[in-house]
Amino acid sequence: VFAHLVQAPEDAILGVTIAYNKDPSPIKLNLGVGAYRTEEGKPLVLNVVRKAEQQLINDRSRIKEYLPIVGLVEFNKLSAKLILGADSPAIRENRVTTVECLSGTGSLRVGGEFLARHYHQKTIYIPQPTWGNHPKIFTLAGLSVKTYRYYDPSTRGLNFQGLLEDLGAAPQGSIVLLHACAHNPTGVDPTLEQWEQIRKLMRSKGLMPFFDSAYQGFASGSLDTDAKPIRMFVADGGELLVAQSYAKNMGLYGERVGALSIVCKAADVAGRVESQLKLVIRPMYSNPPIHGASIVAVILRDRNLFNEWTLELKAMADRIISMRKQLFEALRARGTPGDWTHIIKQIGMFTFTGLNPAQVSYMTKEYHIYMTSDGRISMAGLSSKTVPHLADAIHAVVTK
Ligand code: LMR
Repeated sequence: VFAHLVQAPEDAILGVTIAYNKDPSPIKLNLGVGAYRTEEGKPLVLNVVRKAEQQLINDRSRIKEYLPIVGLVEFNKLSAKLILGADSPAIRENRVTTVECLSGTGSLRVGGEFLARHYHQKTIYIPQPTWGNHPKIFTLAGLSVKTYRYYDPSTRGLNFQGLLEDLGAAPQGSIVLLHACAHNPTGVDPTLEQWEQIRKLMRSKGLMPFFDSAYQGFASGSLDTDAKPIRMFVADGGELLVAQSYAKNMGLYGERVGALSIVCKAADVAGRVESQLKLVIRPMYSNPPIHGASIVAVILRDRNLFNEWTLELKAMADRIISMRKQLFEALRARGTPGDWTHIIKQIGMFTFTGLNPAQVSYMTKEYHIYMTSDGRISMAGLSSKTVPHLADAIHAVVTK
């Protein structure tokens, strides 16, 4: 009965790793998926994560019972504090409901389905471009997806005017997906002044903010700084949703640990929202896994581990910034034609190089460098040793 099925294409991002794994070349380089690598090109398990896991193993009282539908309650509270700030008025007034979900994707999907069921507007505006999974997540959640202008290829920066025009023209009450920081794939973020203008415009039109926070701590190296745009929207007393992921900032990719918070206007509303979120989650996966959330809770509750985490996070962010500088310098040293300042200006894990699909495919074929076809490279996958190889490849393809 399935014989008529056609072979589905690999995922645009995760498929890059599959292609990379098949390549026998010793010089191959995977700059596709946004996953941190050390200078030696190895995945990194943070020291604090190892310590937290050791604590969990040593605790013989730990059991493996089901978590509640909303997940680990302590993890939820700590996650809300981390993203909204310890002194958040919304937390103080019990206006926030937080549920543990399966990393960023799961949090976005649960939030999307909740909105599709209970929010009066079914259209979500996502930036153009955005993370490839966003349109699929929200379409399958039951929302109708439209885009707003975000990136200007001519400046390799923000198309702020286009963004304001498109959000200004969106129907009253529409949902708007915002990358909290380190926009994926462009690495281009609004300034705080621009965020303030976006906030004013959105609130004046009753647009519902849905933040995707996948890189808290990765953009600036500071957890609080990277959460500022979200906190600006909380400070005005209005509603919002935020999806948090611990994949990148704690390196917990495969543990699938994240959270969805919904900030409401009143505590009783937040309680009813939570009851409805449970109805979304229960038939989807019943309740979330215990291990990753326990690791996060151990780290967030312990001041020493928390401080150690911020240092490790900063070290990862700094290594990425240093990769930006090295790549930029390497292209300059080669006299590679073009303006490459965007490599040092863009923020977070990715550089949106401006290379086109044909150039990407040439670099993969001739230099065994793997990246997404939109020209996005994961700076976190680069090291001092591999920068020259990438610079050679870029130089070759733009002078070809
Ligand atoms: C990425 O954009 O590379 C990451 O968010 C990984 C993923 O799941 O796509």
